[in-house]
Amino acid sequence: MASGQFTREEALLCQGCRHGCHVMLYADTKSRLWGRTPIRHIILMQMRYDGLLGFPGGLVDPKKETLEEGLSRELLEEVGVALPIYEEDHVVANYAPASCSKSLLMAHFYVKKLEEEQIREVERAAASTAADHGQEVLGMVRVPIHTMRTGAGLSYFLSHTFIGNARSQLVHTLLRLNMVTPEELHKALTHSLK
Ligand code: APR
Ligand code: MG
Ligand code: MG
Repeated sequence: MASGQFTREEALLCQGCRHGCHVMLYADTKSRLWGRTPIRHIILMQMRYDGLLGFPGGLVDPKKETLEEGLSRELLEEVGVALPIYEEDHVVANYAPASCSKSLLMAHFYVKKLEEEQIREVERAAASTAADHGQEVLGMVRVPIHTMRTGAGLSYFLSHTFIGNARSQLVHTLLRLNMVTPEELHKALTHSLK
């Protein structure tokens, strides 16, 4: 893997690290904005207690549970649904600044595709039965991936402030999964820098 990026196994070798696991949950959709602009993908992020945007997930102690068990536990707390997470959903791990402690944080990033109805169920549960709703998690948000001439859409979304590596995790995944073309992303990034 590229320097600064670790596989799941490489990352677990860091004994002195704290480990954090977060996941991008997404689904394909045929729905359209105003019946016109295809939305294409529903991608979930969350507004955190600290006012930053991030992905659902949290701290995991690999001595007590696997990374994936820990991430499923965090999902149950934060979005109210017990979604199974598998090793093959792991995409990459990076060092990240840890707001919660002085020790180094290894940030594991997962991506999991759901059906559209499952995403809606996550949104409903996150806003009702999830234990962390209104406390650690203020609400789920969908990521707009279109960019309009004015910059509305993805470019404005990327102008917000994100926790840790969440912004680059989002941007890389949009490209890697062909959710946006390099040209669309370039347009969005150009607007968001203004
Ligand atoms: N990329 C990199 N680091 C991240 C990301 C991300 N996408 N998302 C969060 N982090 C960092 C946070 O800065 C935090 O230090 O990972 C750590 C754990 O993530 P949280 O989701 O905040 O952890 P969680 O277990 O859900 O919350 C428990 O964490 O922020 C503290 O004190 C706070 O009690 C809270 C505790
Ligand atoms: Mg949590
Ligand atoms: Mg969390």
